[in-house]
Amino acid sequence: MSSSRSREKAAARIAALVTELNLHLRLYHVEDQPQISDAEYDDLYRELVDLENAFPELKQPDSPSERVGAPPATGFTQVAHRVPMLSLDNAMGSDEMRAFDERVRRVLEIEGDVPYLGEPKLDGAGIELVYEKRRLVVGVTRGDGRVGEDVTSNLRFCQTVPLALNDSAPTSRLSVRGEVTLPVAAFERLNRNRLEAGSEPFANPRNAAAGSLRQLHDIDTDRLRALDFRAYAVAEGLPGNVVRQSEILECLTAWGFSVSPDVELCPNAEAVVAYHEKILASRNTQPIEIDGTVIKLDRLDQQRELGTLSRAPRWAIAFKFPPQQETTVVESIEVQVGRTGALTPVAKLSPVHVGGVTVSSASLHNQDEIERKDVRVKDTVVVQRAGDVIPQIVKVVIEKRPKGTRRYRLPSHCPVCGDAAVRLEDEVVTRCPNIDCPAQLVNNLRHFASRGALDVEGLGEKMVAQLVESGLVARMSDLFRLDADMLGKLERMGEKSASNLVASIARARDTTLSRFLIALSIRHVGEGVAELLAGQFGDIAPILAATQEELEAIDGVGPTIAESLAAFFADERNRQEIAQMQQLGVHWPTAEPAAPGGDALKGKTFVLTGGLATMTRDEAKRLIQQQGGKVTGSVSKKTSYVVVGTDPGSKAKKAEELEIEILDEEGLVKLLS
Ligand code: IVH
Repeated sequence: MSSSRSREKAAARIAALVTELNLHLRLYHVEDQPQISDAEYDDLYRELVDLENAFPELKQPDSPSERVGAPPATGFTQVAHRVPMLSLDNAMGSDEMRAFDERVRRVLEIEGDVPYLGEPKLDGAGIELVYEKRRLVVGVTRGDGRVGEDVTSNLRFCQTVPLALNDSAPTSRLSVRGEVTLPVAAFERLNRNRLEAGSEPFANPRNAAAGSLRQLHDIDTDRLRALDFRAYAVAEGLPGNVVRQSEILECLTAWGFSVSPDVELCPNAEAVVAYHEKILASRNTQPIEIDGTVIKLDRLDQQRELGTLSRAPRWAIAFKFPPQQETTVVESIEVQVGRTGALTPVAKLSPVHVGGVTVSSASLHNQDEIERKDVRVKDTVVVQRAGDVIPQIVKVVIEKRPKGTRRYRLPSHCPVCGDAAVRLEDEVVTRCPNIDCPAQLVNNLRHFASRGALDVEGLGEKMVAQLVESGLVARMSDLFRLDADMLGKLERMGEKSASNLVASIARARDTTLSRFLIALSIRHVGEGVAELLAGQFGDIAPILAATQEELEAIDGVGPTIAESLAAFFADERNRQEIAQMQQLGVHWPTAEPAAPGGDALKGKTFVLTGGLATMTRDEAKRLIQQQGGKVTGSVSKKTSYVVVGTDPGSKAKKAEELEIEILDEEGLVKLLS
């Protein structure tokens, strides 16, 4: 791809992303009606920032990445740690632990025992809390160890983060470090809810804790309240009379922090090994996920003598637990369809005990993951819980593979409704595009009725669920078939509310094309794209008739959006639903397609190169498109005209070679008029 072509693509994508992201910011902050998940928002935002970094000159002034003052668009304020937050070296077994002890004694030149403090290694997110005058001023994630993110506002919900310290605490600046975890019970509850709501469960309590702290939109405060903070270090402000790690923990407790109850003074390496075994044995009954022990020199003077390397201190080591693994057999691979239409393959396993829980299924995530691991039905697999409450398939035991197994492929059709499944080019997830798919109907109806879409008053979550469960609504268009008699048969539905709902559905029939497009739950189509399409096409029929290429030629519609639109409208059931809804009275003001100059340039493909004097290239592009022409980035035999401005690139030469008609600016203007 030539660089100007990629630049042009980037410009279009940036414009589309800015429109989309600003829409979602508004839906979230102003309308309280987010249409996409945080993760989807973050993906789009990251894509934008990557493009802006690659093409800084294309950055738009209204880019969400330029936003100041307002709540951070994504990402939090960065804060540098005054004292770096280090990592720990690992010891994988008792021998490596003993080797650590020997090195310590060698450096300290001590023949006898050296005392250690053993602490559980909490499997969460490292956090720094800074206090001034005993009040919490800021809470920062570990980040890369040098710079973290300010997550104070979320941390304040966490019940074990003291907002003010006891009187015994120092009044000067105090920096306390510790681990934020989501206790296992809360983690399991959270994942059950997420599965029910059709969202991806968290892989382990660590991710859940870190994810909770980094919530930006739609903040789940119950989840934040359930977080647990345990302190284990003081980076700044430690009183001078404290000389042992064990005393630090005592101080932290006295000042008002929670500290792990299972810490133990170990007089030598053998005591450390015994302590480690004891904690390991309690692993599956601990309320908090722990993935090992942390062994620290107890005496701070000895810690100082050993010192610190750039990555990790030499006075401490993470003594890790072995992962909990078992082998079992894949009985079958089932496909679940989530509320957003995602097809997720799930391995059904012969039940096996791993780390205190019975495991009988494991998610295979998506087609790529299956291919990477090549998991097949009847394979013997290693399953693992290593800080991961959700079991994972580590690998296939190839030697045990029976003859005649076949590579697994996700079905080409949705197992719930039978519609052809679609995987967009840049996505790992395969989805069912049918808006009426029973797995998605409740979700889609809620979106359909939401404020940014058709805005059907009185059609909330409960009502939608009731309509679908009762069988009154089996597809989107059934909404417009409802009458007061039908609704009256529903439980807890009075005459008045029935007629109110019928009236608000009637009102919703009178809408705009852009709202209708938003309502259809087409992936990647929010208000920005919907308005572009409505402005360009004026009515639904020309959109249904447009090819993917024609959609992509629209300024602001990138390849992903075009592909998603094309897949949606290619689906016969979706087309029928649209027709049904129109027949049942859904309508909007139509407009002529945005081609003021008619189709004068229809079928003509232009390439622009070099600078123009009277307009920008984007303006030229728009003018050409408005008359039905197409603008592409590279010259080929199919190009009709190459418009050559000042300082043209290699495209001008290519045009000569291919004998394609060359226009100067004047020629273009003449053609346009
Ligand atoms: S001490 C310089 N103590 O484990 C000392 N860390 O793998 C480093 N961790 O980044 C921290 N429990 O987030 C310490 N009792 C404990 C810990 C602990 C968990 C985490 C911490 C650290 C990571 C290193």
